[in-house]
Amino acid sequence: MKTEEPRPVLLSEYRPPAFLVDKISLEVSLDPDKTEVRSFLHMRRNPDAPREGPLVLDGEHFELKEVRLDDERLGENRYQVDDTSLTIATVPDEFVLSTLTTCAPAANTALTGLYQSNGIFCTQCEAEGFRRITYYLDRPDVMAEFRTRIVADKSLASVLLSNGNCVAEGTLEDGRHFAEWHDPFKKPAYLFALVAGDLAVVEDSFHTMSGRDIALRIFVEPGNEDRCAYAMDALKRSMKWDEEVFGREYDLDIFMIVAVSAFNMGAMENKGLNVFNDKYVLARPDTATDADYAAIESIVAHEYFHNWTGNRITCRDWFQLCLKEGLTVFRDQEFTSDQRSRAVKRIADVRLLRTHQFPEDGGPLSHPVRPNAYIEINNFYTATVYEKGAELVRMIHTLLGAERFRKGMDLYFERHDGEAATVEDFLSAIGDGGDEDLSGFKNWYSQAGTPEVLVTTQWDQASATYTAKMSQICPPTPGQPNKTTLPIPIELGLLCADGTEIPLQLDGEDSPGATSRIVMLDQREQVFRFHNVTQKPVPSLLRGFTAPVKLSANQSERDWTFLMAHDSDPFNRWEAGQKYASTILISNAEALQKGGKARQGNVFSDIIEKLLADENLEPEFVAQMITLPAEQTLAQTVGSNVDVEAIHAVRNDLRSAIAERLWETFRAAYDRLLVPGPYSPDAESAGRRTLRNTCLSYLVASSRPEGLRLAVEQFQAADNMTDEIAALALLADHDGPERETALEAFHERWKTDNIVIDKWFAIQAVSTLPGTLENVKRLTEHPVFSLSNPNKVRALIGSFANANQLRFHAADGSGYSYIGDNVLELDRLNPQVAARLLGAFKSWRQFDSARQDQMKAVLEKIVNAPGISQDVYEIASKSLS
Ligand code: TRP
Ligand code: ZN
Repeated sequence: MKTEEPRPVLLSEYRPPAFLVDKISLEVSLDPDKTEVRSFLHMRRNPDAPREGPLVLDGEHFELKEVRLDDERLGENRYQVDDTSLTIATVPDEFVLSTLTTCAPAANTALTGLYQSNGIFCTQCEAEGFRRITYYLDRPDVMAEFRTRIVADKSLASVLLSNGNCVAEGTLEDGRHFAEWHDPFKKPAYLFALVAGDLAVVEDSFHTMSGRDIALRIFVEPGNEDRCAYAMDALKRSMKWDEEVFGREYDLDIFMIVAVSAFNMGAMENKGLNVFNDKYVLARPDTATDADYAAIESIVAHEYFHNWTGNRITCRDWFQLCLKEGLTVFRDQEFTSDQRSRAVKRIADVRLLRTHQFPEDGGPLSHPVRPNAYIEINNFYTATVYEKGAELVRMIHTLLGAERFRKGMDLYFERHDGEAATVEDFLSAIGDGGDEDLSGFKNWYSQAGTPEVLVTTQWDQASATYTAKMSQICPPTPGQPNKTTLPIPIELGLLCADGTEIPLQLDGEDSPGATSRIVMLDQREQVFRFHNVTQKPVPSLLRGFTAPVKLSANQSERDWTFLMAHDSDPFNRWEAGQKYASTILISNAEALQKGGKARQGNVFSDIIEKLLADENLEPEFVAQMITLPAEQTLAQTVGSNVDVEAIHAVRNDLRSAIAERLWETFRAAYDRLLVPGPYSPDAESAGRRTLRNTCLSYLVASSRPEGLRLAVEQFQAADNMTDEIAALALLADHDGPERETALEAFHERWKTDNIVIDKWFAIQAVSTLPGTLENVKRLTEHPVFSLSNPNKVRALIGSFANANQLRFHAADGSGYSYIGDNVLELDRLNPQVAARLLGAFKSWRQFDSARQDQMKAVLEKIVNAPGISQDVYEIASKSLS
């Protein structure tokens, strides 16, 4: 807890560790209230650091019982202990240090270190949780060989797991038993894991490219064995994909996944023993949606891919977090693109970037992909580090092409396997291996903010040339008033009136090349000239979203509708539709404020009709095309003085207008798109369901009662959670008796299912009906709701704060004060989750002055509250700055 202004950790102050740990042996005797941890650290002075100074080990939130140096028990005069460390003034150059400590897993509500989830002992050590288990050099550049002996009452825990291979197990006296695990790969402490409990197991195996057989095991609470098949299948496909695409084979003989219900994030890549939030493992057609299946697939892949990008090559320090996270997100995105639809995945990723990363980068919490300073590292597992980090890797991939990128990656693995590396190491290896100078790219990692690219195009008939004048600026961000220019790859094409594309011939080239090409904007301002352009084209700019920038160009609504219909680049086809729709919506919102007249979007409707009739298009892509931009995205586009009520109203109105005009079309599509046969989570069936449910949402938005009737019927008849929940979400937003009937029926069916019931919480929290906040408050009293379970908090309170723009931003400030109070209450239990919830205030300056005052007051109350965690302090104080 904070006593005075916490001092930030600085990248510029990085020093190599004074000591190294070659080996660590742990003996953990489990008990919910008093777990004993005996550790033996085989240590020596680091030859690459100054050979002086005391030994300082990290350690907190436990009790120290004993310290031994080379087997001699030290008297209290030989060492010093404070809240966060153990210091021994004099030690030999090489020694074994042993400590005995006790901790209380059952009382650990922060869910970092050793804790209990539903009776299961488990650990979460990233980023700095290992120091809550034992005294250690808890930093990622200290890599050691781990041996772990776990002892527990058989009745308390029948399964005892840790990293690596099980080398011994057996029975002890008094009903106890033990297991010993050895991990032959050196690793930092944040990759340590221990799990123990009464767990059921689902087993399979994987045959590697070099012919080894790997045992695969998924551990779950008994009763959930029938929900593991998809995660197991995703795991095997991930293993195969990493062999084929990156040449990476799994290294240990066993790979384990454990699913627990109390978990701060999605999942954790501990060596050989991944621990997952159970909602990202467990799936059955009647309990999980298509979106859940897709999330399971990508998170299983993400954690598995960390074995090479993160574990075999880890980070030198936490400032390098993007080295493993950005790269691994890029890898899981590519995996999903290969397994499913590349176009749809790209659209989904850019949507995510725009809804989460752009607001972060445009507000007070803006930071570079590689930050320079932090107070609490847990606050830096952000959309910027993960998603923008992945975009930076993607730009490099775009620039080099798949083949040279692979050569760069091969060199990266060759050079740094077994090491703790930096972003510079990564860029040099990719640059050397891929034969490209990437030095200009470094600035992308150190400069915060979203660059804005302005494009002005002009066609000259007489000379048949087409010029695109491009410029870039990056707005100032906290601590970075002045920005440098960045290398921005921009893929583009030029379309003729008939929709065909012109082969592009740039200045200095003597013949035309491909129709889609990448130009590099690496100056403040540049002109790109294309020759032999004999008719006025419509430009398609930033195809595939080749750079994480905000692009604006002199394009008209006619250009957008033309591109919506004709662009060969699916991403830009979608992009044109979104730009067009948001232009209409934002001007309608202005009209509403001024008492003017709204536009009905008939042109948009006509295009939707054509898209729905086009049998060559993937249904999921069509669903993306015909979905209006989200209210949050519109707010983000408006940027200041956002009127949440107007945005909500005009978006609903436009949706209704489209629904009226295209009723027959949607009605026919709804029938036609029904997926026959038993449920399968494959991408194609899922896409049909998405489109069908999108049609249903339009039908419900129309004035005809049949829409609502169809939703009720679908809710009652659904044989899978996707269709059931899609219908329920529509009914829950409808003010009528159908709402209560459906919510009650769902509750009755699923009230004992820990994962499914969270959907019931979330759906009510995002309802736009006026009584939503009162209902959310009421639901926190529900017997299965608990502030100490992060999934519950995220489903109910988090959804309200982050996914219900209309009600969170209620004019009377009730939403703000409710969330503020919850942040403070939650902070006493779980600072990480509390700090994340507080992130809902990050864009507070985008709203009108009355709302700004209200949000500011909440932030000030929090920053001044006595005893708040440094997690919450950092977010609150930066938000106010
Ligand atoms: N490294 C994990 C991942 O991205 C995420 C993670 C970081 C995490 N810190 C955590 C998970 C704390 C749970 C708790 O794959
Ligand atoms: Zn990760």
